[in-house]
Amino acid sequence: MAAQDAHETVLLQEAVDALAIRADGVYVDATFGRGGHSRLILARLGANGRLIALDKDAQAVAAATRIGDARFSVVHASFAELAGVLERLGLEGVDGVLLDLGVSSPQLDDAARGFSFRRDGPLDMRMDTSRGQTAAQWLETASESEIREVIRDYGEERFAKQIAKAIVAARRGAPVVTTGQLAAIVGAAVRTREKHKDPATRTFQAVRIYLNQELAHLSLALPQILELLKPGARLAVISFHSLEDRIVKRFLRDAARADVPIRLPLRERELPQARLRLIGKPVRASAQEIAANPRARSATLRVAERTGV
Ligand SMILES: C[S@@+](CC[C@H](N)C(=O)[O-])C[C@H]1O[C@@H](n2cnc3c(N)ncnc32)[C@H](O)[C@@H]1O
Repeated sequence: MAAQDAHETVLLQEAVDALAIRADGVYVDATFGRGGHSRLILARLGANGRLIALDKDAQAVAAATRIGDARFSVVHASFAELAGVLERLGLEGVDGVLLDLGVSSPQLDDAARGFSFRRDGPLDMRMDTSRGQTAAQWLETASESEIREVIRDYGEERFAKQIAKAIVAARRGAPVVTTGQLAAIVGAAVRTREKHKDPATRTFQAVRIYLNQELAHLSLALPQILELLKPGARLAVISFHSLEDRIVKRFLRDAARADVPIRLPLRERELPQARLRLIGKPVRASAQEIAANPRARSATLRVAERTGV
């Protein structure tokens, strides 16, 4: 793998350990990236085990096809379509699912993908370049209030109003079509500076989350995964910012809570049972991993196991 095509896998051992791999089990790596987790899952599977990988990104899928292992298959799809993907493969249930959310290093490092404010390139930001509008197309037509809301809600940016205004003013002169242009507009509109943080960080995160519908796809995937997990099967999710972690945390908490109807005279065995059991506390990367890979700093791994109901 060429250096620019490498992804430094976050919480590799922790996430794969959390899946408690059964040698003959069927597993899903719903965010293949460059396959760091997938390779370790395959190493722990026996001859009859199976791993299905998904990724929205055609370049990730192309990298996956190079794995060449009869136990492994890859599908170019969003994990929001997981139930349909598995149905087409004839699979009714699985023994574990991994979600390692967000963007990969190859996506960030390739200026042509337009994800990075550090590298000047066309303002694209789509994970799946085969569909949807680019960031440049969206910024050309979105209203000022729409831009403001996206930057405020998905970037948790307090200067969203000023940034949206600056973008709309700038596009009157010339369309905003490069990452460099957007970073410069945002940099001029944000008046304060955070230590070790580029002023464009929140805006780029916001536009990326919005264009790729990252939170919506996560919200669609979780209930499908719950239905697909066999009793005793595990779900492991690594999230990288509070917006996605909040969705995961709430979903797991709700599914791990048995809703006991108040004042109903039920016997113990008649009580509603929780569908998930939370496994351990949220896991963060070690100081050693963060020193080697700063991206691990914001990672949180949450794990749950399907109960028998
Ligand atoms: C953090 S990387 C995964 C890295 C991988 N675990 C590894 O070790 O190489 C996230 C990957 O998930 C993909 N992705 C993000 N949202 C997705 C979605 N809704 N459906 C499928 N893949 C998605 C991205 O394209 C990216 O390749």
